[in-house]
Amino acid sequence: MTMRRADTVYLDGRYMRCAEARISPDDRGFLFADGVYEVVRVYGGRLFEIGAHLDRLRRSLREIRIPSAAADGIDGICSGLIERCGLSQADATVYVQITRGAAPRGHAFPADGTPPTVYVSAAAVDEPPDACALGIGAILVPDTRWARCDIKSTALLPNVLARQMAVDRGAREALFIRDGVITEGTASTFCAVSSGSLLTHPLGERILPGITRTVVLRLCRELGIPAVERPVTVDSLSSIEEAMILSTTREIMPVTQIDGAAVGHGLRGPVTRRLQEAFAALTESARRG
Ligand code: PDD
Repeated sequence: MTMRRADTVYLDGRYMRCAEARISPDDRGFLFADGVYEVVRVYGGRLFEIGAHLDRLRRSLREIRIPSAAADGIDGICSGLIERCGLSQADATVYVQITRGAAPRGHAFPADGTPPTVYVSAAAVDEPPDACALGIGAILVPDTRWARCDIKSTALLPNVLARQMAVDRGAREALFIRDGVITEGTASTFCAVSSGSLLTHPLGERILPGITRTVVLRLCRELGIPAVERPVTVDSLSSIEEAMILSTTREIMPVTQIDGAAVGHGLRGPVTRRLQEAFAALTESARRG
């Protein structure tokens, strides 16, 4: 999948060429990663699951004590950007970032009234279907992240380092391990299939409440696939039938190898395939409106 960021972006109340966008070096997003973000998928120019993304964005803002009013109007801004970027018929992603704004460096919050910085960009998505059918390899890495992984914070250094470790080892995702269980991927939810049931880590402070996760659990109910919110242990990996990662950008992606060992038969499995087909039907109807 390739993504190309469009030339037009939105920053603090205005649409502008990206080359003209200026963010202060005092911005707390730059100095402290003091901000939160969302990635929203666009199918045929239409924002997918935008309500759920906005709810999660407001929750992230509340949890880090940025007034959640900063998210007001974001859906309109996203739609305006899609149009201005010429993506009204396109598949794309929209990136939304809100930080605590710019103020002289100091750890405590800046003075009341410091306006949050709001940045939105869009990128067209061209999707070569290869990995959706063939699957990807993943590696296991210790989960060295903080204790509030439910907040979609821009502080992603452990995720960045883990993903690069995957790339260095010829894999496409790193799966975090904490206390002997897989929590999630660096930018994805992890699911396994065991005895025909879908297993995924329960919600809580150890994982991001993924929007794709919610959609997939709903599809499981509709398709009669048993789904259990229970973590997958590293020890049980040799006996699972299928594995997959879920995310807004990668949708439902089979994981066919973990640390070089085949998952099940090493091919995309039937449960993954059924879920992908049902998900594709959803995105197709989103495209048609
Ligand atoms: N990441 N877990 C983590 C740590 C993530 O960063 C993401 C998404 C997910 C999946 O959530 P969702 O289904 O809502 O996209 C799970 C985005 C896509 C990113 O950082 O690019």
